[in-house]
Parts: sequence; structure tokens; C-alpha cells
Amino acid sequence: MIRAHLTVDPHFVVGPIDRRLFGSFVEHLGRCVYDGIHEPGHPAADGDGWRTDVLELVRELGVTTIRYPGGNFVSGYRWEDGVGPVAQRPRRLDLAWHSTEANLVGLDEFACWTRKVGAELMYAVNLGTRGLQEALDVLEYANIGSGTALSDQRIRNGATDPHGIRMWCLGNEMDGPWQLGQGSAEDYGRLAAKTARAMRQIDPGLELVACGSSSAEMPTFGSWDRTVLEETYDEVDYLSCHAYYEPVDGDLGSFLASAVSMDRFIDSVVATADHVKAARRSEKSMAISFDEWNVWYKSRYDQVDRITDPADWPVAPRLLEDTYSVLDAVVFGNLLISLIRHADRVKAASLAQLVNVIAPIMTEPGGPAWRQTTFHPFALASRLAQGVALELKLDCPTYRTAAYGEVPVVDAVATYEESDGSTAIFLVNRSQDGPATVELDTRALGPVSPGLARTLSDPDIHAANTLADPLRVGLQDNTSLEVRNGQLQITLPAVSWTALTLHPYGTVTDLPERN
Ligand code: AHR
Repeated sequence: MIRAHLTVDPHFVVGPIDRRLFGSFVEHLGRCVYDGIHEPGHPAADGDGWRTDVLELVRELGVTTIRYPGGNFVSGYRWEDGVGPVAQRPRRLDLAWHSTEANLVGLDEFACWTRKVGAELMYAVNLGTRGLQEALDVLEYANIGSGTALSDQRIRNGATDPHGIRMWCLGNEMDGPWQLGQGSAEDYGRLAAKTARAMRQIDPGLELVACGSSSAEMPTFGSWDRTVLEETYDEVDYLSCHAYYEPVDGDLGSFLASAVSMDRFIDSVVATADHVKAARRSEKSMAISFDEWNVWYKSRYDQVDRITDPADWPVAPRLLEDTYSVLDAVVFGNLLISLIRHADRVKAASLAQLVNVIAPIMTEPGGPAWRQTTFHPFALASRLAQGVALELKLDCPTYRTAAYGEVPVVDAVATYEESDGSTAIFLVNRSQDGPATVELDTRALGPVSPGLARTLSDPDIHAANTLADPLRVGLQDNTSLEVRNGQLQITLPAVSWTALTLHPYGTVTDLPERN
């Protein structure tokens, strides 16, 4: 039996949790928008063509922000194509995904949808094939009340009120050779800085995100980030990070430790940003927008799904439609733990993506919508992770991985909400061999009562939710949580993710003392 010991102390604060940590991402890619959130012929569609069953699931997921419209798509996108009378909108080649973009949904419609969701819209401008002027144009169109050519055009298009978008991404993954308009770090950094300065002439209060490296595996990782920050440090508020994980050569031990890679990635970007801060004698600490993260079986896309036939430009093809297993959801839940653990610097994050495309929510045209395994840790963490993130003391055995060396078998993070004294603890057991029992030293919290304890696990770690069996995997009450000799302990099944809450004694039903 694996035994771990965890000490929780509300005085050891990492930082406040920004609600934007629980953001998501909708790209014009595959069936994310069309036949995903938007399907006018569907029996559950509202008058605007939005699937209300999908809307309900998105609300239940608890996403706070939604990044839009890309991704790689944005680097070839003309935002003007997506506004005005739908019948007059052009169909365009989408070079990023070798598809046809029908432009049935654009900025105004999407802003309306995010309002229905109750989320904040985070908009990416095209710095691939376009530049400063187009960024200013879309900002004027979106945010100016009235009385200018573009704001009046928005009003004529039916959007009377400005969209009030605060957070803007200055391009997407501009270090990647796959990106339309990729350039050197110097070129991109100068363009991003000029664009940011100009956008702030319209509204100094905008929050702007410069493109960091598109992954820690990029050969330019580190130097790209440093150079971009040297050009943009005073002009932007965030540097972006992107990371996707999948098993390599069937090595599940390393895959289960993917959060170690995310931890190191964030730490390296923070170190790079702080180097630039020091060299500039700046007072400002750069925040991170981890605006693409997930498990993604990218090798499957590269080898099987990628469209290459020069004559084939489908509308809304099935692309990147990964089916997530229990194993994937445990890795995913551990990535969430890593993000929360870095709440002092990661001030925004976007789960990539939201519907159908590497997504927690799947849909069938004319048919149902369902929750993937990854839906569950996200929805619960978004609800429970409130207040501040806490630094924990965790003693537990380690195991050896090919990718990351020795890693702890158990990983955990806690959050603490001062207003009601509640604590949430998120844990994973990465072991494939057996359960882990975790003793919780909660003395610093004072007398506590356990609240909920929910675990995602399954004897078949490859079990998944599918169209045929949409409710196969879910969260279950973890009934092992008990008070033993005055100390709380919980058992985590092999390959599992767990969330539990603690409350000041007497505020919720107590667990019976078992000795
Ligand atoms: O999320 C899928 C793609 O991954 C995005 O379009 C791109 O930014 C990243 O490479």
C-alpha cells in the first residue's frame, strides 16, 4: 500500500486564484462552432441556431472566459467576413485546417453566445496575414459605443451595445513554422509591441497577451520568450504558454506525470520573464496566460486525420475529435492541479478546446450532446477552487519515469476561501499498481468537518464516454474518507483524480469517527 502524508496550512498562500484560470477556447476548427455549439436544424436549437443542450453543458462546466476565434485559424482570418448579413458573407479557404470557412458565425454572434453562457470573451487578432490596422479596426468595431464608421456598422448589424472585450491576444503561436505569417521573435515582438501601443491609444485599460512559445519543445523555447518580452515588456500584461500531452510509445508512467512537465514549463517561463524584469529594472511581474492546454492525441491527427488533398476543402469536418479515457482525465485533472499551484503567476488559462475538438463536450448532429471524462475534473475544480491556492507539504513515495526521472506517486494542491473558511483539496494517484492512502494533517485549519469527496477512477483505465455509452464514466463519492485517531485520511484508487472539501467544524454534516 502506498502511503502519503499531506499537511495543509492556510498561512502558506501561493496567491489568489483568478477566475480566468477556468477559461476555455473555441476555434473555427472542425465541428467546434458548426455542428457543435451552432446547429440551426437541431431540435434543441434556439432561434439563433445555438444548441441549448450544449449551452447547458457549457454552463455546467463552469468556464469563465472563452478565447476566440483561434488558434491557427486566426492567422488567416478576416474578421470583417464574419459580420453583417449572413447571406452576404463570403466562403473562404481556411489554410490552417484545410477547410472551408462559411462565416455563418462571427464576432457579433459569438459575443452574444458567450453572454448566454455567462463567460467573458477573450479575442485573438490576426498578426499572421494582417497587422496593426486590422487589430485597431476590430477593436473599434467591438468596443466603441457609437459615432464612428465601425461602431455604427456594428449597430447597423444588430449589436447595439459594444461587446466590451477586455482581454486581447496579439496573434497565435507566432513561433511555429505551421503558422501563417510566422516570423522571428524580433519581428513578432516589434509588431506585437506596436499593435499593443496602438490598441491602448483606443483603450489603455485593455489586457493584452503576447505570444510565448507554442510549446516547451520548440527549439527556440526560452530565447523566443525572452526576445518577445524584451520587445513588449512594458506594453503587454501576459505572455502565453501552450502545452498538449499524449502518451509516447505507450509509456503511461511518463504520461501520468505530464503535470511535472507543465510545472517545469511554467517555472521556466516565469524565470525567463523575471530575467527580463530584472534586466529592465521593472516593477512589473509578467503574468502568464496558459491559453491552450489539454491532452491531445496529436500524433493521430498528424498521421490519420490531417487533410492534404488539394481538392478537398470540407466545411466543418470531423477533426481532432479525441475520445478521452479515465487515464486521460486523470492526467488532465493533474494539469489543472499544476495550473492552480501556479496561481501566483498563471492568471488566465484556456482549456483547448470546448466542443467536439479535443473537447470536454461532444455532440452528434441532430443527436445528443454528452460529457467526456475530462468534463468532470474541470467542472468540479471550477466550482470548488475558490480564494487562494495553498502551498502543501507532501511526503510520498516516488516512481521512475523515462521522461521526467523520479516523480511523486501522489500529487495535490489545495485552495482556501477565507470568507467561509472552506478548503478544497485536489489529488491524483499516478500509480498504475494500486491505491494510495493519504493522511491529511489539517491541524492548522482548526477543527474541520469533511464536505464532499468525489473521485474519478475505473478498473478499466481506458473506459470512456461515447455516443453509444455516454454515461459510462463519472465521478463517484469516495467513501474511504474518514477520521482515524483524530486525523483525516482518504484512499485514492490507482490512476485516479479526487476532489474533497473541508469546512469549519459544525458547518456541514460530520463524518463518524472510526478507529
Ligand atoms: O488547439 C488546436 C491548435 O493547437 C490551435 O489552433 C493551435 O494554436 C495549436 O497548435
